[in-house]
Amino acid sequence: MSTPDIQFLFEPRTVAVIGASHDPNKIGYKIVQNIVANGYTGKVYPVNPKGGEILGLAVAPTIRDIPEEIDVALIVVPAKAVFETVQQCAAHRVKFVLIISSGFSEIGNLEEERKIVAYAREHGMRVLGPNIFGLYSVTPSLNATFGPREIPKGNVAIVTQSGALGVAMIGKAAAEKMGLSAIVSVGNKSDIDETDLLEYLVPHPQTRVILIYIEGVKDGERLVRTLKRASREKPIVVIKAGRSKRGAVAAASHTGALAGAAEVFDAIMRQCGVLCAESIQEAFNWSKFLATSVLPRGEETVIITNGGGIGVIATDACERYSVTLYDDLQILEKIFAPMTPEFGSTKNPIDLTGQATADHYDRALEAARHSESIHSVLALSCETALFDAASFAPMIERNFRAFQQAQKPIVFSALGGEKVEQLTQKLRHQGIPIFPDVTEAVSCLGALYQHYRYRSRPEPAIEPISFEERSLMKVFESARQQGRSFLLAQEAQQLLRLAGIPVPKSAIARTLDDTVRYAQEIGYPVVLKVVSRDILHKSDIGGVALDLDNAQEVMDAYGAILHNCRTHKPEALIDGIEVSQQVPPGVQIIIGARRDPSFGPILMVGLGGIYVEVMKDVSFRALPISRQEAFDMLKELKSYPVLLGVRGEEKRDIETIVDVMVRVGALLQACKNVADIEINPLIVYEHGQGGMAVDARVLLVQGGQEP
Ligand code: COA
Repeated sequence: MSTPDIQFLFEPRTVAVIGASHDPNKIGYKIVQNIVANGYTGKVYPVNPKGGEILGLAVAPTIRDIPEEIDVALIVVPAKAVFETVQQCAAHRVKFVLIISSGFSEIGNLEEERKIVAYAREHGMRVLGPNIFGLYSVTPSLNATFGPREIPKGNVAIVTQSGALGVAMIGKAAAEKMGLSAIVSVGNKSDIDETDLLEYLVPHPQTRVILIYIEGVKDGERLVRTLKRASREKPIVVIKAGRSKRGAVAAASHTGALAGAAEVFDAIMRQCGVLCAESIQEAFNWSKFLATSVLPRGEETVIITNGGGIGVIATDACERYSVTLYDDLQILEKIFAPMTPEFGSTKNPIDLTGQATADHYDRALEAARHSESIHSVLALSCETALFDAASFAPMIERNFRAFQQAQKPIVFSALGGEKVEQLTQKLRHQGIPIFPDVTEAVSCLGALYQHYRYRSRPEPAIEPISFEERSLMKVFESARQQGRSFLLAQEAQQLLRLAGIPVPKSAIARTLDDTVRYAQEIGYPVVLKVVSRDILHKSDIGGVALDLDNAQEVMDAYGAILHNCRTHKPEALIDGIEVSQQVPPGVQIIIGARRDPSFGPILMVGLGGIYVEVMKDVSFRALPISRQEAFDMLKELKSYPVLLGVRGEEKRDIETIVDVMVRVGALLQACKNVADIEINPLIVYEHGQGGMAVDARVLLVQGGQEP
């Protein structure tokens, strides 16, 4: 069955409210009231078996009685009556049903919810909700919510998984004079999710910023693909709940969704160019700012201030939010000396000193605006005896407009008493980005730059890596025959070899003679390891011998290993002895690829040993990744300097690590029957000397398919 175009959800020509009530205290009444009061440009049909009139509109006893096709039907009847209502909607060829009613998966009633969605989809309908407060869409002026009647029109679209928070956000948007282009409550996300909504909101001309409150991700792979493209078009701000362990439990019980692990979520959102806000206030600040600000043309920012202290705080915040401060002292002096007193400073921050008047700011801002070297400005002021609201307010307004025209972002911050607060409030309501707290101002500029950088970056070039499919399949053959959910060490090694990942030379010997012969062929020193599916921890029982330098040592070790196994694990079936090249020591790296329950295939990298075990110093990305992204993952590690060489050591072979990361990722994607691949460790040598995957663990998907 084909699915309706998402445009009909946001721009329906006809809307039915099923469960429209005559009682003004009921949700079914409020929704009709909001639709009517907001001047919806389409036609609205209340539906209620009692018939009659609601707010002057004739009430249809059933949807069948409506004389035309319905694009959107809002369902506001008790949960137990929803399925039947959905059936009636399907019979009337409704395109979208919005189920306001609660009482489904959020309270464990998953079966009913699934039944409804399955029926709807079979009949070509899509479902928003259940458990939602509705939808607002500016284009047809449709307020189909039971939230506030007045929704300020504007350019920010909000998508929210929490209903109560969504209603509160409408109120907050109004209070902050942040206009909305849409607000959609996704509730239990039984069918329509954030990704579907982005299909409309990303190209929607009136939407400049999309703000998403998200608790759990269901189809992360699809979301990632969409977000990567969407963030190149417009800023996407996300507030993710459920970051802390307690928060995750609350979020899961709240919507029945599984919250993704915080680190994975944050890393993947960054990869997609999404701006992750720490709080609702931060998300609002960013959204409002980004909806009005122009994009910068370069990275260089200048702070203009009348107070040293606030300049220092702003400088620290710039470092934290990755805002680059322009530091060509000669040019800065040339630009700002004419309006800076001798006891001030033309080094960035430009300190106009406590005696600065609105006129000084005017001159400094004009100079910054005309300079080709400066791309954005933070204008800060602390209240002094010279502060005069009557001259500061027009100065700020004038400069804001002039900067917009000059395509240069500007953010203001003013700190002081009542008069300053009144001034900031008034200007904020006019849409001018001015904050009492300088850190908030810097964080907005930081968000803008994060978006700007993502847009300016070329799209990652994902190299196709192909594998010989038949050889890959052979590796899994005996695991499949034996019903194993993992590969044996030598199988895992063979898999890596086929993927072009360097592994130590090795062979499996079944006799003493073979063991010695293989050792000679491989070259000393060698390592011997027992091969047995019954012995998992080989070293613990003396099943491993290292540093064997000649044939005699190999023969002795062979005997010792078999003796140890017989003593400690007499019942173990021994398949042979693995003889492998003993690799010299180097920096240890761990590389893992697995299928995340929320995001699908993801890659992880970290330095081995204490770095990963104690410091949890790892980075993540959703697959596939480019070489540049793999390199960025390494640079994100706190322990990255170790790879660059510390205390006179040579730089490590970073290209080899990147290459193995890309190959492990491609391998996981190629082998649909693999759940998890982990190389631990990849021993990495000096630059140009390569590396070696010494140990690998490969887990298979239970009941999985062939690669
Ligand atoms: N077709 C059409 N109308 C129907 C109907 C049907 N099959 N079944 C009932 N109705 C009518 C009722 O007659 C009533 O109208 P009336 O007041 O004129 O008699 C109206 O629909 C509402 O039914 P009622 O039984 O009174 O329920 P309610 O209004 O108390 O509650 C819900 C209905 C959907 C609001 C409620 O069940 C619910 O789920 N509330 C939670 C909503 C929520 O919080 N959502 C998430 C927000 S984030």
